[in-house]
Amino acid sequence: MASIKFNNVVKSYGDVNIIKGLDLDILDKEFMVLVGPSGCGKSTTLRMIAGLEEITSGELSIGDRVVNAVHPKDRDVAMVFQSYALYPHMTVRENIAFGLKLRKMPKEDIDRLVNEAAETLGMAHLLDRKPKALSGGQRQRVALGRAIVRKPSVFLFDEPLSNLDAELRVQMRAEIGKLQKRLGITSVYVTHDQVEAMTMGDRIAVLHDGELRQVGSPLELYDTPANIFVAQFIGTPNMNMIEMNVSDDGKTLSCDAVSLEASAEWQAAVSEKKGSKIMVGIRPEHIRGDDEHEWTDGTAKISGVVDIVETLGHEVVVYLIVKGLEEKVIAKMDAHKSPKPGDEVVMDIHLGKLHMFDPETENRLATA
Ligand SMILES: Nc1ncnc2c1ncn2[C@@H]1O[C@H](COP(=O)(O)OP(=O)(O)OP(=O)(O)O)[C@@H](O)[C@H]1O
Ligand SMILES: [Mg+2]
Repeated sequence: MASIKFNNVVKSYGDVNIIKGLDLDILDKEFMVLVGPSGCGKSTTLRMIAGLEEITSGELSIGDRVVNAVHPKDRDVAMVFQSYALYPHMTVRENIAFGLKLRKMPKEDIDRLVNEAAETLGMAHLLDRKPKALSGGQRQRVALGRAIVRKPSVFLFDEPLSNLDAELRVQMRAEIGKLQKRLGITSVYVTHDQVEAMTMGDRIAVLHDGELRQVGSPLELYDTPANIFVAQFIGTPNMNMIEMNVSDDGKTLSCDAVSLEASAEWQAAVSEKKGSKIMVGIRPEHIRGDDEHEWTDGTAKISGVVDIVETLGHEVVVYLIVKGLEEKVIAKMDAHKSPKPGDEVVMDIHLGKLHMFDPETENRLATA
């Protein structure tokens, strides 16, 4: 069993706190993605699991064992980095076998493990090549092979795909995901790319400034972001965030640009904010032309002038200049009905899909 447990873990360099009291449970066999902007502490967190960074305070366990003071080589974890760090003068076979040789494993066992790993990774035919004769994706597979043969209890990945081109990245994401499920090895995967996080993770932990902002399944984060940071970090393009006033009777939300009725789901939350301000989040996919949706549970109109149109293929992303709002409103439209810059448009907002946040705490308001 290789669950991983962070219990109020702090990491500081001098008096600078990098990780500020992390509590996180990673389940046995789970694929956990750590995501967040550059510098938020993802690699530091991963390196603490590997034992490459000492923990300042708190407790870190792998399985039933507290590992705060356990040497990296005794933690039974294997790490795959962005730079593959292959030995150029060694063949693929020798690269994969290297760690096992260091451990003085018998040759027959090494051969069997290397062949098995090569088979698993579909690179049995490449075993006698040197790294310089491999593509980027194949090199990354050798690095994976090196981790697999060790049969660790935990895999740690630090942005392993960021050197690959877009197409190969998509392919390797799927391969790593399948491999992880097949081997059933608890894995922690670091990326700054929320699309990668959404497509790969059983669960995702969102870090910001050394603090855990939310942990949950990809859909939980998308459907019920716990705060404004997660709301705007997950999903592309960014969620629109509009400050609105709650009417004195607590039923209507309005600003210069739009006025809408709070749905039954939100009435209780909003009633505590009567006469004051809240932040209303609306995903671009929930603002569409009125002939482009079948929303039957309530809509509100918003009108604006088209500033920029980005074509994605089947749909376009439209940036609207809306009177009374500083930020442009982002909407999605069918590519075949795409407006042009300068056009005036009226769009529907899907009221069943609103998100509401407290402007002071930035936390999601609780629904009934
Ligand atoms: N040895 C060190 N001494 C002081 N500060 C450090 C040290 N190592 C890392 N940091 C700081 O800790 C913070 C977190 O770094 P970390 O490498 O964990 O970020 P990250 O989330 O992996 O970012 P990226 O996406 O850019 O890789 C950064 O602000 C970094 O400058
Ligand atoms: Mg990093």
